[in-house]
Amino acid sequence: MIVGRFPSSRPRRLRRNENIRRLVRETKLTLDDLIYPIFVRFGENIVEEVPSMPGVYRYSVDKVVDAVKEVRDLGIPAIILFGIPEHKDEVGSDTWSEEGIIQRALRKIKREVPDIYVITDVCFCEYTSHGHCGVLHEQDVDNDLTLENLKKQVVSHAENGADMVAPSGMMDGMVKAIREALDDAGFKHIPIMAYSAKFASAFYGPFREAAQSAPAFGDRRTYQMDPANSREALKEVFMDIEEGADVVMVKPALAYLDVISKVKENVLVPVCAYNVSGEYSLIKAAGKMGWIDEKKVMWETLLSIKRAGADMIITYFAKDVAQMINRGEV
Ligand code: PBG
Repeated sequence: MIVGRFPSSRPRRLRRNENIRRLVRETKLTLDDLIYPIFVRFGENIVEEVPSMPGVYRYSVDKVVDAVKEVRDLGIPAIILFGIPEHKDEVGSDTWSEEGIIQRALRKIKREVPDIYVITDVCFCEYTSHGHCGVLHEQDVDNDLTLENLKKQVVSHAENGADMVAPSGMMDGMVKAIREALDDAGFKHIPIMAYSAKFASAFYGPFREAAQSAPAFGDRRTYQMDPANSREALKEVFMDIEEGADVVMVKPALAYLDVISKVKENVLVPVCAYNVSGEYSLIKAAGKMGWIDEKKVMWETLLSIKRAGADMIITYFAKDVAQMINRGEV
């Protein structure tokens, strides 16, 4: 590769002012890249801020519509829904109940804001009394029993209006099971975004407070991936694509930019990255302390995720970024 040599080559020529910098800019972050996570909870008339995630709220179903409209009005194309049910049980049966928290939220959102794309997070940890992502057997999650319940969950989500389902439990074979269940129930057109390479990460801390989903004992290392492994991430991604994943995801994003980039180079499906709760809260906290310029660090962070190869980003910053874009601040 020819790169040129000083003094005939002077890279600074292309950085002299904003106009030329715009022309040579390689990565652009736009509204089209953003998915905003929304937490819906039981109860009525509730809009409560998550203590560890300033600017992020939990809404009761009657209050969630205003939040979704705000997202839509900012020009963000999609949301991903997380639910906090009133009653948890051993298997997480709220996830497939007609009166489940997600089902009620879906019906309301689809009726009142039909023009936003609604993705549902498909898991059990917020819904089980023990906080693990499936059915327990001898203190560990039983893979194949969990698949049976996942099928019920996704069909119920689709029946109530989900545009896309996103299984996040890291069960083996979950994409295959879900694809078959959706197809059998007449939902061939509903895509699956698989949390394919989801690492057992401490960056989920604030989310677990927000979603009340911390495991009651142990941790998630028998199903979520070891942070040390990137070849295994590719294996998970390939298996999911073979099982029918339409979009694959890497999660978290920042400590795993190398994985995003590797996945992007090796697949032909769109790649999503999840800029998780801990990544959000760190920036918010340092911004509050006055130690960093929060807006600039947010922008640079999301840009790095895009540059690494993400085609779309799930981020709690989506509304803040959209405002910056819409005001022409970037
Ligand atoms: C599982 C799920 C988790 C997150 C999204 N889906 C938590 C976990 O695996 O413990 C984390 C998201 C975040 O930290 O922002 N339902």
